[in-house]
Amino acid sequence: MRKLILFLFLLPLINCKKAPVLPTGEIAEKAMVVSAREEASKIGVEIMKKGGNAFDAMVATEMALAVSFPFAGNLGGGGFMVYRKAEGDIGGLDYREKAPLAAHRDMYLDSLGNVIPNMSTVGATAVGVPGTVAGIIEVHKKYGSLSLEETLQPVIDLAYRGVVVTEKQAKRLEGYKERFIEVNGDSTKFAQGFKAGDTIKYPQLAKTLTKIMNEGRDGFYKGETARKLASFIQENGGFITEEDLEKYEAKWRYPVTFNYKDLKIISMSPPSSGGVTMNQIFKMMEPYDLASFGHNSEKTIQLFTEAARRAYADRNYFLGDPDFTDIPLDVILTDDYLLQRMEGFSFDKATPSSEVSHGEVEIVESMQTTHYSIVDSQGNAISATTTLNGGYGSKLYSEELGIFLNNEMDDFSSKMGVPNMFGLIGAEANSIEPEKRMLSSMTPTIVEKDGTLYMVVGTPGGSTIINFVAQTILNVYEFDFSMQDAVNAPRFHHQWLPDMILFEEEGFSDELKTNLKDKGYNLFEGPARIGGKVDAIKILPDGRLEGGADKRGDDKAVGY
Ligand code: DON
Repeated sequence: MRKLILFLFLLPLINCKKAPVLPTGEIAEKAMVVSAREEASKIGVEIMKKGGNAFDAMVATEMALAVSFPFAGNLGGGGFMVYRKAEGDIGGLDYREKAPLAAHRDMYLDSLGNVIPNMSTVGATAVGVPGTVAGIIEVHKKYGSLSLEETLQPVIDLAYRGVVVTEKQAKRLEGYKERFIEVNGDSTKFAQGFKAGDTIKYPQLAKTLTKIMNEGRDGFYKGETARKLASFIQENGGFITEEDLEKYEAKWRYPVTFNYKDLKIISMSPPSSGGVTMNQIFKMMEPYDLASFGHNSEKTIQLFTEAARRAYADRNYFLGDPDFTDIPLDVILTDDYLLQRMEGFSFDKATPSSEVSHGEVEIVESMQTTHYSIVDSQGNAISATTTLNGGYGSKLYSEELGIFLNNEMDDFSSKMGVPNMFGLIGAEANSIEPEKRMLSSMTPTIVEKDGTLYMVVGTPGGSTIINFVAQTILNVYEFDFSMQDAVNAPRFHHQWLPDMILFEEEGFSDELKTNLKDKGYNLFEGPARIGGKVDAIKILPDGRLEGGADKRGDDKAVGY
């Protein structure tokens, strides 16, 4: 009997000791790439197997996504990359598109000052000066260890060989077919009606890539390709000139870093809003014992929503291209300021955002950006997010070069107070100016724990990106999920305006939703396709790597 009493007494103590988290994703001993397509992950891994580092793998993976995932992978778009070298050095690269020289503040307004529908989203008028090729060449020049031939030839081979259409891709192509035809005419390559199982070959893209392999940056931004690209865009009514292309430069920018409990989070700085907004969200939540509230519990959702609401309000007002806009980071990232922002927060009821009616705004067009995470055998880590903005960007496709062009100009604020296609309301800081970069939500992120590499994470998802990256980190750190389970877990989103919480379709009970409504939260009614597609890597305690490849897409972790 005494033994039983002792056992019962010890039971809570025994339970306190956390069981180790078992990985549920792909495991690798040395190196890994997680991306939107197996073909791209495999090419990245092959590059590392033949002696390349994570930077070489990045160059190859980014270009392989342009071939295998033309929905978002690109030469005609832009992105951001954050790295952490094995010995701890960190950095970030901004290869975001920028406004052409001919751009001006009111370029998308009619004579009455109203936003002209579709002008910043569809066709040549929507295209910003592409940055992706400058990005990969910059990475190769600074940190690559293989030649551009060794890195790009496998991608060129893939483009000639072709890529098999998946079920999901076939559905997407079908869904966009009419829009491709509207923009490009019915002889365009993608009007053909590809079916799952078909192989699409990309010989024109292979030629464009070959020029880049042989001539580097100049193979895209100068000479024949630049001439063809600029005249193609202008013939279709757009604004980009050869001078715009020649002047484009990718820029190294020091990442935003902050501590959350015993984590150090390293994420992209402006002109991405990702790092700053996530910094605010995490710091507003830090005083609370989130783990004790439970994963996706009512209290967790409330706290996260209230932090996100406040952080997105700041994002929309203060953030823009730092080369054009003074951003008061020295104020809005301080503990005092953030503590003050959470004054008035209560678990009893929602803080309303403003009077803006919800429902008028289409929140998210779906998944059009793409993220990949890489860790090499030396421990170098790369987190990169790249995009055309909308699905297949502006839908404008150059048959000759084999590339889609972005519609990134819509990420600017065309008119103060008028929401863009993600429902984001912009302010002066993100107004259009020649050569300015449009504000982004892309949040490529690397996390350290106790000074060592812990996680590499990012996602597409427009305005939802920041929240989804934050929730994935919290799933692993606060709620002890494996990397794959953290990626699989249902997600929710609030972006200040419109004032509503969006939930993924599965995973949130009616009771939970009713309780939140009773506290004054507005919930988006109807199917909110807000999934994002998180591709992440966790470094396990024994040093192996666990991939989290999002089951919402065709994403795949490949390692060795
Ligand atoms: O930079 C941005 O924030 C947007 N252009 C990202 C677009 C995106 O993620 C689309 N995918 N859902």
